[in-house]
Amino acid sequence: MKNLVIAIDGYSSCGKSTTAKAVAATLHYAYLDTGAMYRGVTLYLLENNIPFDDLGQVEQALRHDINISFKHNSRTGRNELYLNGKTREDDIRQMRISNAVSEVSVIVQVRHAMVAQQQRMGRKRGVVMDGRDIGTTVFPDAEVKIFMTADVEVRARRRQEELAAKGEHVSLEDIIENLRKRDHIDSTRTESPLRRAADAVLLDTTHITITEQVDFVLDNVSSALFAA
Ligand code: DC
Repeated sequence: MKNLVIAIDGYSSCGKSTTAKAVAATLHYAYLDTGAMYRGVTLYLLENNIPFDDLGQVEQALRHDINISFKHNSRTGRNELYLNGKTREDDIRQMRISNAVSEVSVIVQVRHAMVAQQQRMGRKRGVVMDGRDIGTTVFPDAEVKIFMTADVEVRARRRQEELAAKGEHVSLEDIIENLRKRDHIDSTRTESPLRRAADAVLLDTTHITITEQVDFVLDNVSSALFAA
């Protein structure tokens, strides 16, 4: 059976990664969380006091000092982000990173480095990737392209529950503000902005369950395999 690339793009906190992980597990495909990579770069720049507008230092760090990889943790069952050989999965999910990551994702040098690494990681295909620009820029030839959206309040509630489960308590207003700001910056940047590819299928998750989201994507995979 042909190995496909499945691109799942869309707004922040629509359930992209939960859906992508479940689809990858069902198909025995690899899963790549591209947002985690931008979060990893953001964490590095913040921890090393590198101003986001100092492009010389940012470029230097990307070329020589930032090494991003993923490793499966068999104890937790999670795919974890490693920054320079150390797992930073919990750190990259904190609000301080969510508040800064969109600013880092607009930097052209950062995007070029991340897109190139994502293309290398997916070159054998058989992969589900979630992000903002997978169907438009990273793999414009992906056989399955889904564009996810949902009502901002519903997204914020889900995000609030996720953070609370990790012990971080944030008000709904703060989360809504963060989601709106990120959606705006992500959609209006010049380099590979968040937008629906012409051939992407729209999936609104406001009123549907995770199982329904996963089934929707798997139906699209079946059609793509049938057409292949
Ligand atoms: O999926 P996420 O919320 O973890 O992504 C964090 C940020 O990274 C998001 O606000 C925009 C950026 N991002 C991007 O610009 N391109 C991607 N392919 C994935 C994420």
